[in-house]
Amino acid sequence: MALSGKRILLIISGGIAAYKSLDLIRRLRERGASVRPVMTKGAQEFVTPLAVGALAADHVFVDLFSRQDEQDIGHIRLARDCDLVLIAPATADLMAKMANGLADDLASTLLLATDKPVLAAPAMNPRMWAHPATRRNAATLRADGVHFVGPMAGEMAEGGEAGLGRMAEPLEIVAATEAVFEGGRHKPLAGRKAIVTSGPTHEPIDPVRYIANRSSGRQGHAIAAALAKLGADVTLVSGPVTIPDPIGVNVVHVERAEEMRDAVLAALPADIAVMVAAVADWRVASAADQKLKKHPGESIPTLALTENPDILKTVGHHTMRPKLVIGFAAETQDVESNAKAKLERKGADMIVANDVSPATGIMGGSRNSVKLIRHDGVEQWPDLAKEEVAERLAALIAEKLRLI
Ligand code: CTP
Repeated sequence: MALSGKRILLIISGGIAAYKSLDLIRRLRERGASVRPVMTKGAQEFVTPLAVGALAADHVFVDLFSRQDEQDIGHIRLARDCDLVLIAPATADLMAKMANGLADDLASTLLLATDKPVLAAPAMNPRMWAHPATRRNAATLRADGVHFVGPMAGEMAEGGEAGLGRMAEPLEIVAATEAVFEGGRHKPLAGRKAIVTSGPTHEPIDPVRYIANRSSGRQGHAIAAALAKLGADVTLVSGPVTIPDPIGVNVVHVERAEEMRDAVLAALPADIAVMVAAVADWRVASAADQKLKKHPGESIPTLALTENPDILKTVGHHTMRPKLVIGFAAETQDVESNAKAKLERKGADMIVANDVSPATGIMGGSRNSVKLIRHDGVEQWPDLAKEEVAERLAALIAEKLRLI
């Protein structure tokens, strides 16, 4: 347990996302961490020190010039008597102060005085996050060694606006906190590069309609995260999904199979390729530039399809073929024999086969029951959460690469 016994100094700055910090405190404590809260003046406009203190079961520090607090612990000790400083939410203002070394309140002073790792979970309006000043500040902070989780894409609390700016969810922040602590541990895939595809592809019919499938991206995203956790430098090429980008992974968002192929080839060379995406086999031969309209009396249009590039096959036979090429096989019948044929045809080292018949609930669900098909045999894995399948697969990849 990465968080057990860890002392976390949690700085809450003033944004609407501060309400999520209450849940974050609970999640951190559930995992055995202790949380010592610090709130800026702005934060207290959104949540009360009473609620924060009750959930943290600790005194809430709010004032740089509190005589009592200074006598009891002192701000320099407060900054150092912890294992990690977590800022959630981190506002644009607090990031600007940090990047410039300002210390005009308790939070910014602690951040300047600490010698511990710092993890920031930014939350702000998308335009503020995209502003060149914030981009500069984030780059400076990264160069200074500050870790980041998020911001994530999505609807803003103020409504109407969408984009990057939403604070990561409490469990994502917990995972990122664990990852910071695990940073020092053994990383068998350090120095290795991996490419993972995930999610469905959308093949346009016209500007408003497309052909898609039921893939959620959960398995592919979990594999990208698991490889990154073992130290790999991961590029995740993702089709349109509604789940957040995994932590510590470079994500390239695409829509169509051809875009996915281009992004995968641009990421070569690599040591590992895991092609999990449910790529559409066909696309509409000539997608319409304008919305197809219904005209009374006219015949119903037929869609002429043409074949999409097979990304796994292209990578499996490429001159820059990664050392390990792994494919997935979504089957509804004859799972093993179909997957074996795919192994040969696509030039893969391994096919992870699953039965995606509707009764299994695998496609779009949270669990998976897979068979590993290799040139030297077949291995059935038990029914597992998609995250567990990902962790096992990442461990297997690390082991294989060690032997190659
Ligand atoms: N795949 C790919 N590009 C495609 C189609 C599939 O990279 N155009 C990859 C998938 O990411 C997966 C594997 O090939 O790793 C198998 O996908 P699947 O859809 O099961 O196989 P198909 O080649 O489409 O074969 P079939 O439709 O006959 O089952």
